[in-house]
Amino acid sequence: MKKLFVALILAALPLLSFAAEHGPELEKVDIDVSDKAALQDGARTFANYCMGCHSAKFQRYERVADDLGIPHEVMLEKLVFTGAKIGDHMNIGMKPADAKAWFGAAPPDLTLVARVRGTDWLYGYLKSFYEDPSRPWGVNNKVFPNVGMPNVLVGLQGKQVVGCKQVQVVEDGKKQYDPLTGTPLTHEACDQLKIDTPGALNDEQFDDKVKNLVTFLAYSANPVKLQHQRIGTYVLLYLAFFFVFAYLLKREYWKDVH
Ligand code: HEC
Repeated sequence: MKKLFVALILAALPLLSFAAEHGPELEKVDIDVSDKAALQDGARTFANYCMGCHSAKFQRYERVADDLGIPHEVMLEKLVFTGAKIGDHMNIGMKPADAKAWFGAAPPDLTLVARVRGTDWLYGYLKSFYEDPSRPWGVNNKVFPNVGMPNVLVGLQGKQVVGCKQVQVVEDGKKQYDPLTGTPLTHEACDQLKIDTPGALNDEQFDDKVKNLVTFLAYSANPVKLQHQRIGTYVLLYLAFFFVFAYLLKREYWKDVH
C-alpha cells in the first residue's frame, strides 16, 4: 500500500512541474554578472526607480560599491537617497503596513528575488506592463496579472497596449523561415504588447536598461559569484604553474628508472 502511494506521488510529479511552468512564454535573457558597466547602470536604475518602495536589506551599500568598483563618495552622492551611511544595509523608509494600505500588497524585499523568480521572469515582468484602465494604477502586467505595482519605468519605455502585430512563427521553440527566400515566416497575433506612446528610450535602449537592472538583481542575489569567478581564475593560474614543477619533478624521479 505504501509502495503504491509513493509510486502515485512519483507519477504525479511531472504534472506538478508542468503546472509551475504554466504562464506566458518568457524570452531568454543572457545575464553576465561580471559585466561591471552593466552592474553599475543597473545599480543606478535600482536606486532611482525601485528603492522608493523596495529594499535590498541583505545588502550593504559599501559591499555593492566595492564589488562594482564605485568609489564610496560617488556611491553616497549618486545612489543613496535616504541619508544612510556607507556601511548601512539598503533599507527604505516606507513601512510595510503603509505600503499594504497604499498598494494592496507590500513591495517585497528584492535582494534575493532573482533567485526566487529567475532572471528571465524578471526581465519579462519589467517589460510587460500595459495600459488597463480597470486597474487601480491604470496598468496591468502580462507576466504577473493584476499586480499591485505601478509601471515605474513608463517614462523610459513609453505606454504599451495590447494589440495585433506581425510575429514570427515559432515551432518547437525554433523561429521559422521561408525555405526558398530565407525571410522570416510571420503571422498576425492579437495578444501582443506594443508601444502606443513612445518614452525617452527606444526599444533597444530600454531592453538594455532592463537587462542591466536584472544583471544587478542577479548579482545582488548571489554576490559571491563575482568572487568565485575571481578566485577560479587564480586557482587555474596556480594549477598551470604547479603543473610545470610537478612535471619537472616527475622527470627527475624517473630519470634513473628508464
Ligand atoms: C511605487 C512603489 C513601487 C516601486 C517604485 C517599484 N515597485 Fe515593485 N512592487 C511594488 C508592489 C506594491 C509590489 C507587490 C505587488 C503585488 O504583490 O501585487 C511589487 C512587486 C514587485 C516584484 C514582484 C516580486 C514578487 O516576487 O512577487 C518585482 C520583481 C518588483 N516589484 C520589481 C521592481 C523593480 C525592479 C522596481 C524598479 C524598477 C520596482 N519594483 C519599483 C511597488 C513598487
